[in-house]
Amino acid sequence: MNNFIYHNPTKLVFGKGQIARLGKLIPADKKIMITFGGGSVRRNGVYDQVVKALEGRDWVEFWGIEPNPSVETVREAVALGRENGSDFLLAVGGGSVIDGTKLIAAGLLYDGDPWDIVLKGQADKTVPLGTVLTMSATGSEMNSGSVISRQETKEKYAFYGDYPVFSILDPETLYSLPQRQIACGLSDTFVHVLEQYMTTPGQSRLMDRWAEGILHTVIEIAPKIWENQHDYAVMSEYMLGATLALNDMIRMGVTQDWATHMIGHELTALHGLTHGATLAIVINGTLRVLREQKRGKLLQYGERIWGIADGSEEERIDRTLEATKKFFRSLGLSTRLSEEGIGETTIAEIERRFNASGVKYGEAQNVDGAAARRILEACM
Ligand code: NZQ
Ligand code: ZN
Repeated sequence: MNNFIYHNPTKLVFGKGQIARLGKLIPADKKIMITFGGGSVRRNGVYDQVVKALEGRDWVEFWGIEPNPSVETVREAVALGRENGSDFLLAVGGGSVIDGTKLIAAGLLYDGDPWDIVLKGQADKTVPLGTVLTMSATGSEMNSGSVISRQETKEKYAFYGDYPVFSILDPETLYSLPQRQIACGLSDTFVHVLEQYMTTPGQSRLMDRWAEGILHTVIEIAPKIWENQHDYAVMSEYMLGATLALNDMIRMGVTQDWATHMIGHELTALHGLTHGATLAIVINGTLRVLREQKRGKLLQYGERIWGIADGSEEERIDRTLEATKKFFRSLGLSTRLSEEGIGETTIAEIERRFNASGVKYGEAQNVDGAAARRILEACM
């Protein structure tokens, strides 16, 4: 294993009715700003639960953090927070509301434009932040990452802020999610695991088994969610599975990839395609193009996850790639760029952007502009 430091300070508060604990989780003297998305929480009763739990407390509300949160919206929220002297942020929503709020938390303590923080990749100081999660996918409720878009230039980049001090995970909040959001959430969870697992074998048995445990769970629960989205036990596993997939736990001491995500962010920035939907397409290209580099792990994954143990190595890998694609299709997601009407113009732009910034992703740091093109071409 490589050296690492693991320090995840987020307090997870899990289960039915736990939103009622908010009053105890946020110190009494705090001036709170609560942030929301477009209104789903008004329709599913989460807003009412939050208001009840914070009765008598000092708070203001900011509405309108959109999916793929933009710096344009964050600037408005920072202005409101400054005006009210907010010193505690409560994000109520999915990954987008949480990510947007992570930048508000940094922006409140920074004199310049919040976009500078995104470009720098790291926030120096942040206002404390708690979350009430309503959409499971990103792991943002228990990690320090945040992904912010800039609408005027169609850019989307990640930066690192602080971990939420607490996150409330009530699986019942997920009952109102549209099916497509759940499909994208399962896809995101699955690919988060692959980004940290599908590299080179033999680095850590422990990390491999944890990662494989999450993959198995996602595959098992997906059809059960389609049968009954109000099954508390199943939705609990979905909710916790998504959190564990990206809370630093399965990457201790091992190399990581993340090329699929970085290419996916470009597809969202250029076409507005939902994050999990970009991954369901790009991962197939990544695994195909980097097949040699990932050979050992592909064989292990094929055998342990999909039970593919006989035939030549080439046959086993072919069947493994096919099983993976079939899984994403079973979620109702596209697995080819052409199905989303995306083609050469976008491929050329992504290649240009990767080359211009000189980035190299992947566990071998070899996914540059040319490799991104090959990956995208393999997704056509
Ligand atoms: O805005 P509202 O009205 O709340 O509606 C949202 C939104 O339209 C709706 N929704 C959320 N909870 C709901 C609900 N609808 C009904 N019932 C509920 N309980 O779902 C829509 C999508 O929400 P969003 O927050 O955008 O989804 P998600 O959690 O997938 O977040 C996606 C964003 O997170 C970033 C993505 O790039 C994308 O910008 N990511 C963040 C990461 C991180 N911070 O670590 C890692 C990920 O790889 C990812 O990049
Ligand atoms: Zn993701």
